[in-house]
Amino acid sequence: MRTLGHAVVQRRSPAIRDRVVELLRPCESGEVDFGHLMRRLPMVLAGEFMGIPERYWDDIALWAGACVAPDDPAYALGNSTAQTLRLAHHHIFACFRELVRYRRANPGEDLISVLIGITDSMSGRGKPLDDWRILLNCYSFILGANTTTPNVASHTLLALIQRPELWPLLDDEQARAGLVEEGIRWTSPTHHLVRRATADARFGDVTIRAGDWVAAWVASANRDEAVFDDPFTFDIRRSPNRHLGFGGGPHYCIGAPMSRLVLGMLFEELTRRYAAFELTGPLVHLHSNWINGLVSMPVKAIAR
Ligand code: HEM
Repeated sequence: MRTLGHAVVQRRSPAIRDRVVELLRPCESGEVDFGHLMRRLPMVLAGEFMGIPERYWDDIALWAGACVAPDDPAYALGNSTAQTLRLAHHHIFACFRELVRYRRANPGEDLISVLIGITDSMSGRGKPLDDWRILLNCYSFILGANTTTPNVASHTLLALIQRPELWPLLDDEQARAGLVEEGIRWTSPTHHLVRRATADARFGDVTIRAGDWVAAWVASANRDEAVFDDPFTFDIRRSPNRHLGFGGGPHYCIGAPMSRLVLGMLFEELTRRYAAFELTGPLVHLHSNWINGLVSMPVKAIAR
């Protein structure tokens, strides 16, 4: 999609960098909960591309978290898992309904305006997308961004805290690009992706029948010894790094260029300002068998 392609991502990058710098401001005080801080990182992207006013960012990040981890106390919006799920979905869809209404009256260059303007090639009748399809696209986009990018950022910083000797290498752009790819492989924020087989298939000695549900364990594939040398080592020079962190095939992550950009900027700004980070408290992992998340990661930034 041209709205999310490389050229547009590059054009929007100065605005995104300003937001990243602003986001990192709390690190200046020395101690910060990096897990919590990173919740806003995907909104820096999604807010920019979808034209979402900043006043909604923190709520949307909270609702998106509640949609995928309703059992986690950090995202409990209701008295039960079911109520949290209901409330989170209600709030997200109500918010986007409002934004779609606004963009119908005030079109811009954002993704919501683009969705309003395109015709539905799947129906074959060239009709505009109805509101429901637009809302589902917004939902998919916002969940895709929010459930992955913050966790890659936190797990990558954690890996660097555990291997401080890598930090000085990150003055180099190529090394930072390697860091981002390895951070995605290492984190594999979506533990698994589920599909339903449309035809009988055979993998090794396993037979899959048409109609079977299949869970592809991304985290396991990303540590496959047949593909990666020394897969349990965090290696920013790994080349090639053919990880499946962004999935594969027709549903390959549409946000891949954006997340590479923002994660590269994040670590550039961090390494420019700080000599190192230290953990100052216990890690709190997200309650989820799907998302490899860090809810809380208290750290101290050591100035250069
Ligand atoms: C490092 C960050 C990210 C990772 C690791 C990641 C990972 C993934 C994966 C594994 C899929 C495939 C899902 C499947 O096959 O069922 C996917 C799809 C998707 N991602 Fe991402 N994602 C990231 C960032 C983003 C961002 C920033 C956005 C939006 C701004 C985004 C939006 C989407 C969307 C809309 C899809 C669905 C694409 C489709 O079904 O055709 N992702 N992502």
